Amino acid sequence: MEFLDELRSLKDQIRFNGRFEIPEGTKNVVIAGMGGSGIVGRIFSELYSEIPVSIVDDYRAPDFVGKETLYIAISYSGNTEETIDSVNDAKAKGAITLAITSGGKLAKLADKTVVIPKGLNPRSALGYMLAPLATSFGIAGDKEIDEAYKLLNELDENNEAEKGIAREIYSNESIPVIYGIAPYKAVAYRWKTQFSENAKVLAYSSSFPELNHNDTMSLDGTYRKGEFYFMAFTDGENPKVERRIGITENLTGIGLRRINAKGTSAFARMMWLVHEGDYITFHLAVLRGKNPANVAIIEQLKKELGKQI
Ligand code: F6R
Repeated sequence: MEFLDELRSLKDQIRFNGRFEIPEGTKNVVIAGMGGSGIVGRIFSELYSEIPVSIVDDYRAPDFVGKETLYIAISYSGNTEETIDSVNDAKAKGAITLAITSGGKLAKLADKTVVIPKGLNPRSALGYMLAPLATSFGIAGDKEIDEAYKLLNELDENNEAEKGIAREIYSNESIPVIYGIAPYKAVAYRWKTQFSENAKVLAYSSSFPELNHNDTMSLDGTYRKGEFYFMAFTDGENPKVERRIGITENLTGIGLRRINAKGTSAFARMMWLVHEGDYITFHLAVLRGKNPANVAIIEQLKKELGKQI
C-alpha cells in the first residue's frame, strides 16, 4: 500500500471493532509497547484515569505488577524484543496479559489477543491499535468516533495548510519543536517521532506547563535560535495554559505557531492532531526527497539484535 493510502486509512481504522472484556478485579493497567505501537498507550493514558495506567517502553515489567494487573502489550508486528520480554516478565509476576497485534510471537504469548489487520507500517496503524482500548475502556463511543471520522476525512481531502507548514520548515531547514498540552502531550511526542521516521528530521517535543520550568530559559538564550520552528497545540479549553503560551512568547522573544485542535470531543481533537502531524511530516518527507515509508535502519537494527550470540 502507498504510504499516503496508509495515512488515509486512519479514519476507517478508528472504527475497527476490537472491544475486549476488562477482567474482573483489575486494579491497574500497564500498557507496553515501543515506537509506533508504544505511542498508543501513551495517548490512551491521557484520556483514561479511572484506575492507574502505567506505560512500559523497555524490557521489564514494573515490580508492582501482579494478579490485579491487566498487562496490555501492543506491537504491530508482534515481534518486538522489548515488548515480548516485558510480557514474559509480567506473566511471571502473575498478571493477566492481553496483546493487540497483527500476529507474530506476541499473538501466541498473551492470555488473550486482539488481532488487527496486517499490511501497514506500524506507525500508520495507530487507529487499529487505539480503537480496542478506546472502546473497551469507554473513552470513545459512536459519537466521538463519528466526529473523529469526519475530521480525519476533511484532512484527507484537503491538507494544503499542512503542506504549507512543511514548506516553511523545509525552506529554512528548521528543527521542529512541538509543545503539547494536556490531554495531547503524547501527541506532541508522536509528532516528534513522525518527523524522525517519515521525514528523517530530528525534532524535539515537550509540553506546557512543564516546559515553563526549564525550556523557558533556553527559548530565551539558546544558540541558533533562528534554526528552530516552534509550534504549540491549543484547544480553547485551557485558558490558564493558553495565557502561559502568550507570556512565554513575550518573555523569550520567540513566536509559537499555534496548532488549533479541531473538534469538540477530546478523542476527536486528539485524532485530528495526530493526523495533522501525519500530514506535515509526510509532506516534509516528500519535499526532502525522502521515502516516508522507509525505516530500513530500524529494521536492520532489529535483525542484528535478533541474531543469536
Ligand atoms: C515503524 C515504526 C516503529 C515500530 C517499532 C516497534 O513504522 O513506527 O517505531 O513501531 O519499531 O515495532 P512494532 O510496532 O512492530 O512493535
